[in-house]
Amino acid sequence: MTSAKLTYDGKDYELGLIEGTEGEVGIDTRKLRKDTGGAITYDPGYGNTGSCSSAITFIDGEKGILRYRGYGIEELAEKARFVEVCHLLIYGSLPNEQQLEEFSRRLTLHTLIHEDMKKFFEGYAASAHPMAILSTMVASLSAYYPDSADDHDIDLNIVRLLAKAKTIAAFSYKKSMGHPVIYPSNDLSYTQNFLHMLFALPVEEYRVPTVLDEALNLLLILHADHEQNCSTSAVRMVGSSQANLFVAISAGINALWGPLHGGANQKVIEMLRGIRNDGSDYKKYVAKAKDKDDPFRLMGFGHRVYKNYDPRARLLKKAADDVLAELGVDDPLLDIARELEQVALEDGYFVERNLYPNVDFYSGIIYRAMGIPTEMFTVMFALGRLPGWIAHWKEMREDPTTRIHRPRQIYTGENSRPFVPISER
Ligand code: CMC
Repeated sequence: MTSAKLTYDGKDYELGLIEGTEGEVGIDTRKLRKDTGGAITYDPGYGNTGSCSSAITFIDGEKGILRYRGYGIEELAEKARFVEVCHLLIYGSLPNEQQLEEFSRRLTLHTLIHEDMKKFFEGYAASAHPMAILSTMVASLSAYYPDSADDHDIDLNIVRLLAKAKTIAAFSYKKSMGHPVIYPSNDLSYTQNFLHMLFALPVEEYRVPTVLDEALNLLLILHADHEQNCSTSAVRMVGSSQANLFVAISAGINALWGPLHGGANQKVIEMLRGIRNDGSDYKKYVAKAKDKDDPFRLMGFGHRVYKNYDPRARLLKKAADDVLAELGVDDPLLDIARELEQVALEDGYFVERNLYPNVDFYSGIIYRAMGIPTEMFTVMFALGRLPGWIAHWKEMREDPTTRIHRPRQIYTGENSRPFVPISER
């Protein structure tokens, strides 16, 4: 199979095929408009549109497979540290010992944010959502570390972003608590440093509990990339205009915030709390989710790509049990989540539509047990997704065939008409 045939307006057109390393096939429509004299492909929501080719992440949604650079998510979750996964996604290979040491050293070296940026935090209301703070602060990094065409400088900004984003996230949490910020500590690992900045107080010594460190490592790895999702596509869209790294990633953070994407993790906990406050009648909520006249959806359920159990959700369901047991936390919301899942998975509506729990269904339960407030959940997702966004921005920038992203449309508005003076309207 080397081409596809399209018949349009009585004429045949031959369209080339592009095949991926896992046998995925794309029909190349790049010349369609020119060749047909104006016809375009129409795919709102891009459910069938390949916007690029990419060597970073592979998903088989039918089989529930997720791999970063060829490595299965299950194996990475069990054996890797998040910093190794960052290196893998961004530079294409797992680091050897020397590379890991050097990469970790650079990530530690750049953890502080410019002292002037601390003043920004003072300007936000204590109730400001930490995602609003994260996205604006990440965009603001471009004012301190300007863009450059030099590969060395670009790599430096990649490291700065990875190193500083967690400091910004922790400072925004401290701001919401009305507590003084805690500076990073150079003798801690990436994940420990973040937990230290979140939970340490100036009044007492704080040692990062291993269970929290391990749970955070797992959560960040599971969120690290997911190919052309909404936020990554936003990063590529903004980056395609050659906008700088920081503002492109800030666009991704904003896209992630929405409740249909990363914002779902906050909404899941709010939903579970609502169900508990309503007498834990989860069947009523499954019925609501099925009712087409009711806008309610089961948050943390369904996925554009997975038509099977999301492999990340499978790992997190198990981790929720383990982490809560280790922390000695008995969370009634976990029981409601399990019951809800059980009812939904046996219900014809969910079965027919292949609706399974996604990554956001159980992650919030773990964050809660770790002591992380609900409004910070999507920030945690963003910190995990950073290496993925960066890898896609870098891949796109280094691809000489990249063109500015500029979709077409089918216009459905008024035809040409003369201007009407105000006295005649
Ligand atoms: N509850 C009830 N019905 C649902 C749900 C849900 N959570 N998700 C999808 N459906 C139904 C939907 O109504 C539609 O039914 P019908 O065919 O009768 O019209 C069918 O399933 C297909 O849904 P869709 O909205 O066309 O699917 P999509 O690919 O456009 O949307 C989604 C995917 C994730 C936005 C959607 O499943 C959803 O809104 N889920 C809840 C929000 C959520 O958990 N988001 C996190 C996604 S995973 C992490 C991430 O990407 O950030």
